[in-house]
Amino acid sequence: MIAIGSDHAGFEMKEALKKHLKEKGYEVKDFGTDSDQSCDYPEFAKAVSHCVADGVAEKGVLICGTGIGMSMAANKVKGIRAAVVGDAFSAQATREHNDANIICMGARVIDLEKATEFLNIFLSTDFSFGENHIRRIGKLED
Ligand code: RB5
Repeated sequence: MIAIGSDHAGFEMKEALKKHLKEKGYEVKDFGTDSDQSCDYPEFAKAVSHCVADGVAEKGVLICGTGIGMSMAANKVKGIRAAVVGDAFSAQATREHNDANIICMGARVIDLEKATEFLNIFLSTDFSFGENHIRRIGKLED
């Protein structure tokens, strides 16, 4: 299961990515927002992050204007490693090196085509399980 959420700036992209994920066969839990009415991104980041940290969803997707506010909020939840992604290399590397469990993207930064591409890479890339990466993630958790 994938948990997804956005604020008003990311609403349209969130809806499109949700559709894409469902078409790919994922179960998707949508934490809102449900319109383009102005709202506060930390609320949606919190809901998605707890769903992932509690192990209900395997991964999370958060969309706001830049992806930055969502990542700041998500990374305050223990067990969350949220990454703002704006390029294909980072989408892959943050899975391989950081074992990121939430991808954050900016609907005012990248278009839907790129967001879909980066999301696909993120979801299809496994953590490398390298000893050095495991050690560093342990330090992050501490
Ligand atoms: C909303 O205007 C905007 O501040 C928000 O979507 C996000 O970009 C924050 O990081």
